[in-house]
Amino acid sequence: MQDWYKNMSFYQIWIRSFADGNDDGIGDLLGVYDKLTYIKSLGVDGIWFCPIYPSPNADFGYDISDYKNIHPDYGTLSDFKRVLNRAHELGLKVIMDLVINHTSDEHPWFIESRKGGEDNPYKDYYIWRDGKGVKLPNNWESFFEGKAWEWCEERGQYYLHIFAKKQPDLNMDNPAVREEIKSIMRFWLDMGVDGFREDVITYISKHEQLPDGIPFLPAINGLPFYKDGPNLLRYLREFRAVAGEYGAVQIGEAPMTPVKTALQYLRGEDRVLDMMIQFDTMMADCFFTEYVHHPFSLRKLKRAFSRWQYALDGVAWNALYLENHDHPRVIDRYGSLEFWRESGTMLAACYLFQQGTPFIYQGQELGMTNIALPSIDHYLDVASVNAYHSFFRWEPVEKRLRRIHRSSRDSARTPVQWSGEENAGFSTAEPWFYVNPNYREINAAAEDRDPNSILNFYRKCLKLRKDCPTLLWGSYREYRWHSGWLYLYERQWQGERILVSCSFSKRQRRFSLPEGYAAEQAELLLDNYPAEQPGQVGTLRPYEVQVLRWK
Ligand code: GLC
Ligand code: CA
Repeated sequence: MQDWYKNMSFYQIWIRSFADGNDDGIGDLLGVYDKLTYIKSLGVDGIWFCPIYPSPNADFGYDISDYKNIHPDYGTLSDFKRVLNRAHELGLKVIMDLVINHTSDEHPWFIESRKGGEDNPYKDYYIWRDGKGVKLPNNWESFFEGKAWEWCEERGQYYLHIFAKKQPDLNMDNPAVREEIKSIMRFWLDMGVDGFREDVITYISKHEQLPDGIPFLPAINGLPFYKDGPNLLRYLREFRAVAGEYGAVQIGEAPMTPVKTALQYLRGEDRVLDMMIQFDTMMADCFFTEYVHHPFSLRKLKRAFSRWQYALDGVAWNALYLENHDHPRVIDRYGSLEFWRESGTMLAACYLFQQGTPFIYQGQELGMTNIALPSIDHYLDVASVNAYHSFFRWEPVEKRLRRIHRSSRDSARTPVQWSGEENAGFSTAEPWFYVNPNYREINAAAEDRDPNSILNFYRKCLKLRKDCPTLLWGSYREYRWHSGWLYLYERQWQGERILVSCSFSKRQRRFSLPEGYAAEQAELLLDNYPAEQPGQVGTLRPYEVQVLRWK
């Protein structure tokens, strides 16, 4: 059983914006090293590093040009080993991002593959096809940049890219490619890392014929022919065997994989992934992607939470998250800036006490918020820039820009706000990206001193989780699922019951406890309002959360 991760929680680092250790304006491993005790102080048990490998940064690290090295902006392999060893000394696990659906077009494999030639060992490392007369090999669209096929003059063929043009898809059907992946895994596992977060792992096996997708559908029209593809389980089993030798954890990113399909990968002793990063909980204010927005729906969020909680209970294990580098910050979306502290703390409790292993994204614990830059030229994320110039090109500029403000991944990628000093204490040099001007109010130094801060609330939540077997192992049950303002769930274990009641309302409201719960016998474990303003069972103030125990 490789289930050491089940009572843990992880902190996610997107290094470029985390902390700058050598004052060149870019976050790096030295910066991470200096912040390890801060990370430890949160009460987490591990770190997930978004890609820190050499990369031309067409997609900020998700376009890798060397899998066995560190990006010079971030340091060297020996800097990484220092961080790894120190993290281990502090009792923190370290997991790496394994991005194997595609490489950078500047990876030596691609540079070789481009040359073609019968006895070129790299010839079939990628997915190359002839066009059909003047037509592309099929009608698939990419997520990030127009059609999914790009012409290569040198080879006289098209290559497939489901993401950006600079991210050619690997041909996983080629056994040599799979051996490369295993060798990459071994390289990091031999060094001592504890597992992998596996990028869009459910896309790696393409349908052999690459048939045309649904016509006129943008971005995802080819999805049925590469998501959860024909050989996926077989390939994942091969990778699992390697991870298994080391007892490493594997967390698969699976955009749009429904829970039923997820169970194929997650269930039982012979599972191929330990946890899955699902996207359902990110869709409570949008359809399929943040670009197609609708007002926040608590019912939709609750349905997403409960769907995964119920389906996995007892048979598989959840990865819990509310933020990462791919989605705008959640506090402005599911919470309220008007009740910034209250909603930031409530949102923490609303997911940290569910069953599963929580992930906390850098800055989330500070209640960092989104940005609205004055024009598209200020944005750097390939997905935002592309959405602006292609999918929504018919819309007026102001409307498009509003869309970007609501959806851009760049909003989650601003430098972490460490203090009220210049550049938010991230760097003494001009930071590589825009710093949110609210850093004077929202920053780690100020929040560290304030017992009622969002930061200190995260610490309390993580400690409570750790100390409380019911919150770790208990079953999950949702009450009042029809409520449009209250998220109420129970965890139950060995006769102990805990109720987590979360208000998503801007005014004070009352609710009745579920049957069998007596208010007089409740023990208050946690409340996000200051202790000087004690609450009342059955009443919730704006965005209040109460965690109550019955023994
Ligand atoms: C994943 C990553 C995202 C990246 C994409 C392509 O969704 O989290 O940042 O752009 O895969 O690699
Ligand atoms: Ca630096």
